[in-house]
Amino acid sequence: MIGRLNHVAIAVPDLDAAISLYRDTLGAKVNPPQDEPDHGVTVVFIDLPNTKIELLFPLGEDSPIKGFLDKNPSGGIHHICYEVEDILAARDHLAESGARVLGNGEPKIGAHGKPVLFLHPKDFTGTLVELEQV
Ligand code: CO
Repeated sequence: MIGRLNHVAIAVPDLDAAISLYRDTLGAKVNPPQDEPDHGVTVVFIDLPNTKIELLFPLGEDSPIKGFLDKNPSGGIHHICYEVEDILAARDHLAESGARVLGNGEPKIGAHGKPVLFLHPKDFTGTLVELEQV
């Protein structure tokens, strides 16, 4: 069901420092920051030859990644995103398997303008999983 690894998301406490790290130290192609008010984050995508890195920085007071950064003050891997062809079919299959879909179960539009869902980390070996329809 799942396809390519679309991105690995890393929550960062200092966005400018993380951009500099990836652009200047690691020599990666870093795209401009995008504010995603619906998701409470500012995101920066980094293009790698085989996948992307998504830097996440809190946007607003009740950002969903604020708690994560409180627990992981130097930042850390927040989620991984797999591509699926049909997100509603994937959701229904996962729900039948007993996996918990976060939120109200309806896809939201993600940072790439495509529908996304998040799956409960306790059902996926401690990893928050994002599914993106491509
Ligand atoms: Co993501």
